[in-house]
Amino acid sequence: MRRLLLLLCLSLVTWWVWAEEAPRIILIGPPGAGKGTQARYLSDKYNLSHISTGDILRENRKQGTELGKQAAGYMDSGKLVPDELIVTMVAEKLTGDGGFVLDGFPRSEAQAQLLDGMLAKVGHPINSVILLDVADSDLVERLSLRRSCPTCQRTYHLKSNPPKKAGLCDVDGTALIQRPDDKEEVIRNRLKVYHEQTEPVLRHYQDTPGIIKIDGRLSIEQVQKQVDASLTPLVPH
Ligand code: AP5
Repeated sequence: MRRLLLLLCLSLVTWWVWAEEAPRIILIGPPGAGKGTQARYLSDKYNLSHISTGDILRENRKQGTELGKQAAGYMDSGKLVPDELIVTMVAEKLTGDGGFVLDGFPRSEAQAQLLDGMLAKVGHPINSVILLDVADSDLVERLSLRRSCPTCQRTYHLKSNPPKKAGLCDVDGTALIQRPDDKEEVIRNRLKVYHEQTEPVLRHYQDTPGIIKIDGRLSIEQVQKQVDASLTPLVPH
């Protein structure tokens, strides 16, 4: 009986600590740095909600929604979609107590401030900021060789991360596509927008205890190891 009570207490404490300290991660980095790849890994491993503004926008375009139609021109030219369209979309996803990984948001100082406001309401601030650092010259090559699954959004790379069967998604067998914004001139514009509008967001988070910069040129597995190590204070291994 005593053992049962002890187990119950332990479970309650674990649940409480998890709700308090569940990882609330921002993955930040230039286009092609590997945010989506690492976000999917984290979401699967730690059972976190994966909130990718790019994926949500692409899904809206596929469904032909008003949001998708309004966002299309910005996305295809590599510009940021206006904040008012993005913020409502994110707010709808940030409702519960659980952990999450933000992939592609916030992308401007204004979005970072709006996120602070949303999280202040639920009382759970960001506790991990992971910067994936890769030079522009590597990214052009990376993105030109990326292929994506239009069904589950998983990404592949023709050299470093190819699908098991050429041209088909490992998960659902859908024919892989090249994203329209993965053309060289659009990639260069996305990089310019990143340096001008998103890089300054890092200053906003410079005092976050869990902030870390990882060399995103390492292999996917090596990056995963460093990401895992950075989360040790939140999810002891
Ligand atoms: P979004 O979809 O967010 O694109 P992005 O930020 O440009 O990032 P990517 O998805 O291109 O790259 P990634 O870092 O996820 O890399 P990945 O893991 O795929 O946004 C698209 C557009 O939507 C924006 O331009 C904008 O218009 C709009 N938008 C979205 N969010 C917005 C917001 N908040 N505000 C306003 N507008 C917004 O990896 C890339 C490739 O490299 C893959 O082939 C992968 O297999 C490979 N790879 C990954 N890691 C490694 C590694 N370590 N070594 C070798 N290869 C690797």
